[in-house]
Amino acid sequence: MKVFIVGVTGGVGSRLARLLTATGDQVDGLYRRPEQGQRLETHGIHATQGDLTRLDAAALAGLLHDTDVLVFTAGAGGAGGTGATTAIDGAGLSTAVEAARLAGIRRFLLVSVFPEAWRHRDVSDTFEHYIEVKKKADAELAATDLDWTILRPAALTDEPGTGRVSLSPALVHTDITRDDVAATLAELVHTPRIHHRILELTQGPEPIADAVHRQTRN
Ligand SMILES: NC(=O)c1ccc[n+]([C@@H]2O[C@H](COP(=O)([O-])OP(=O)(O)OC[C@H]3O[C@@H](n4cnc5c(N)ncnc54)[C@H](OP(=O)(O)O)[C@@H]3O)[C@@H](O)[C@H]2O)c1
Repeated sequence: MKVFIVGVTGGVGSRLARLLTATGDQVDGLYRRPEQGQRLETHGIHATQGDLTRLDAAALAGLLHDTDVLVFTAGAGGAGGTGATTAIDGAGLSTAVEAARLAGIRRFLLVSVFPEAWRHRDVSDTFEHYIEVKKKADAELAATDLDWTILRPAALTDEPGTGRVSLSPALVHTDITRDDVAATLAELVHTPRIHHRILELTQGPEPIADAVHRQTRN
């Protein structure tokens, strides 16, 4: 299977790329700086240099040849203010959706966020903007006829993965390791029966493979 990861150099994306490569999948994706490409090569990942904000849909589609699944886990991550969030998490998602359509790719996995994350906190306008852009991106993808899945992880941590999660359409916002998000995405990549689903993800009691498999019965 060939998987193109927009955000392949990120905390979640790089972990996903390594997991998929280790199980024999071919991974491609966008990196911005040459040293990132070299680092990916050391893990056997031949990615493509490109900046999402400088590619139009046709140009991105041209990079997606033979792709079976497009995973979008890119984000501005708070750097560059609201403009960067709009450009990457928002307009970047639109570009990727249109590129998938142009390239004839059916399967699209989007890493989003709990819309009610940190409701109990006094959050900044920048954070509210981030949540708004993410929610609009979810709505845009969900309105397409692609075989989409939206995964909403809780607050991300860099603790070692536990291999155990809760995965459900509605959960209480807590946290989740990037290792476990990546492992859940890898399982979803290999479970094409799951689509047209919005799934929330937190740390929990269930082995990841079981949690994903249970979603095929719902
Ligand atoms: N942080 C949280 O607690 C949290 C919670 C729930 C959901 N999320 C979401 O989870 C997703 C993954 O999070 P993460 O921790 O893996 O994020 P991350 O480490 O910040 O990774 C973001 C990725 O997006 C890429 N990117 C940014 N701008 C780009 C551009 N113009 N062109 C191409 N690629 C670009 C980055 O590339 P560079 O390496 O070049 O910067 C990087 O690969 C994000 O969408 C985030 O919104 C985060």
